[in-house]
Amino acid sequence: MPSSSPSKVSRLSISENSNETKYKEIISTLPKLDPPHPTYEINQYNGFWFHSSTLEATLSLSENFKAQPSDIYLCSSPKTGTTWLKALAFSIVTRDRFLDDDSSNPLLNKVPHNCVPTLEVDYYANPSFLDTDLPVLATHVPYACLPRSVLDSDCKIIYICREPKDTFVSWWHYDKKQQESFGIVESGKTLEQEFKWFHGGKSMYGPYWDHVLEYFKESVQRPERVFFLTYEDLKSDTLNYVKKLAEFMGKPFTEEEVNQGVVEKIVARCNIKSLSNLEVNKSGFFDLKQWKISNSSYFRKGEVGDWKNLLTEDMAKSIDKITEEKFHPVGLKFPSEK
Ligand code: A3P
Repeated sequence: MPSSSPSKVSRLSISENSNETKYKEIISTLPKLDPPHPTYEINQYNGFWFHSSTLEATLSLSENFKAQPSDIYLCSSPKTGTTWLKALAFSIVTRDRFLDDDSSNPLLNKVPHNCVPTLEVDYYANPSFLDTDLPVLATHVPYACLPRSVLDSDCKIIYICREPKDTFVSWWHYDKKQQESFGIVESGKTLEQEFKWFHGGKSMYGPYWDHVLEYFKESVQRPERVFFLTYEDLKSDTLNYVKKLAEFMGKPFTEEEVNQGVVEKIVARCNIKSLSNLEVNKSGFFDLKQWKISNSSYFRKGEVGDWKNLLTEDMAKSIDKITEEKFHPVGLKFPSEK
């Protein structure tokens, strides 16, 4: 396979922070979570709930971000397999650079979030990261809130979603770990309150179900543009889905690569056990200026059905009811429902 020759790209059309005041003013007029979240300021925009700083970035990106025609966007709600998808997509597009000499693979000493930028998170914290020479970027923003230039382009989108109960449980553990690592003791934070927010659609970038539906509908209308994937499918048939992802990304594996076991190598490199055992992911931190997030918090169990260890039967039933009402009419079912 010919080795790609990356060239620097420029995706930000204005100097960083130039319109901060304008976006802050817009945000000040938006509905807020009531009662407020004990730690974050959460605002509702376009029907979705955002952390105020990521919303500010989202508004600015909408106007000031220039997608490149060859860009591929990895889209997801938090806790649905974003870190895994980033590692896999990064490995697929860089395989000709690093697979022969795995010791130089950036995944060995960088958390996947430092290999693939997240638009609204890195916009203020590491703006130059968005000018990555790799055509893979990520975002948690709902479909309709993607940067204008992405919506107007034919850029490919890969969306990963996860069974809602497991998504909520993963968020609960992640958020708790974050609070502990920041030394924050949240007075009002209980499983019941957090569940009420998720169930009522007031989760980060939620309502979760609407986030999934927007991308799902787009994938039905334009399958050549949006590849819709579930965490559960990726988990049960990783090898096959990695091949499908590579094809969708325009980097299909050659017969020679398949015979050489390249797909297996990528799957093994991105396996939760191998990634979470790396020193960088055990003890490193992801620096977002205002926060430092422990890399280890992105890797927990990585299992399907872990909700059974936390949710009551009533909680599970009430989430399932929304899932059935929202997803089943459009034909969206998770493997556990089939
Ligand atoms: P659990 O909390 O259920 O273990 P995100 O990357 O979107 O934040 O999602 C985090 C979830 O994906 C966590 O789920 C985490 O353990 C799981 N995860 C992270 N890396 C993974 C990998 N390489 N393979 C499978 N699951 C992974």
